[in-house]
Amino acid sequence: MGHDKLRKFAENETFGCLLQPSAAELLADGYFALRDHEVKGHWGGRFENPDAPLVLELGCGKGEYTVALAERVPDKNYVGVDIKGARLWKGAKYATGHAMGNVGFLRTRIEFITAFFAPGEVSEIWLTFSDPQVRSENSRLTSPIFLERYSKFLSPGGLVHLKTDSQFLYQYTLAVCRANGLPIVASSENLYAEADRFDPCLTGVQTFYESMFREQGYPIKYLCFKLSDAAAQEGSPESSASFVSPEDFDAEYWRSVEGYRTLFGRDTAETRRQKMKGN
Ligand SMILES: C[S@@+](CC[C@H](N)C(=O)[O-])C[C@H]1O[C@@H](n2cnc3c(N)ncnc32)[C@H](O)[C@@H]1O
Repeated sequence: MGHDKLRKFAENETFGCLLQPSAAELLADGYFALRDHEVKGHWGGRFENPDAPLVLELGCGKGEYTVALAERVPDKNYVGVDIKGARLWKGAKYATGHAMGNVGFLRTRIEFITAFFAPGEVSEIWLTFSDPQVRSENSRLTSPIFLERYSKFLSPGGLVHLKTDSQFLYQYTLAVCRANGLPIVASSENLYAEADRFDPCLTGVQTFYESMFREQGYPIKYLCFKLSDAAAQEGSPESSASFVSPEDFDAEYWRSVEGYRTLFGRDTAETRRQKMKGN
């Protein structure tokens, strides 16, 4: 491991805003019976205002978006979640240096997320430039298996926001919403061309990948939906919903229109596959 990564990992241990539970701790009872972490149901205690609504960014990378939203909206608490410690270091360092009382970070796999948040504890979820996982539905962060996890802790009527460059992921998520009758609150296939229809926060703050994809000329898509109507869930905050896969989603077609992607000057694995097929 590189010296810089080791330095960041060591510094991560000193950040009070960063929670890094061990996988062994969570998996002590097996993968399908995750052991709850002690923070579950007690996130409020980690923030200046314990009663403020809690917002998650899943797959937050370096945490720029989590931090930027927290600065713009000080009356909400924000937690950025990612598995990569060297990336989280940047957000945690900034939040610590600026003594931000409404920001936290959690290093874990999103697959384990239900071990950390209690029913109704979260009011909004952001999915920002998640990998579209064009070959593996169950790895997609808007697939039924993940929505079921989120439904275990999202408050009734709580919002899921998706920001993406990927036509595949956007169309897939729309199809999931249709198949499950999930209320769509807002949508755009080109957020920046329609910026005046949306809260200025949506275009005023950008993630690292968002800036990169915008520079490459990809239109940014935005979708905001609910996992349930508040009224339908009232009185049953403990329950989680189950969701189905969209039968009408033509994965082959949407993969073919996705277009090539380069990340940090290199073709993605899917782009290499598509180019080989075309040759
Ligand atoms: C494409 S990057 C986007 C980062 C950031 N949201 C942005 O827009 O700049 C995806 C991030 O999600 C994280 N990630 C992907 N799958 C994950 C999982 N199952 N659990 C935790 N983190 C995950 C990766 O480590 C990576 O930092």
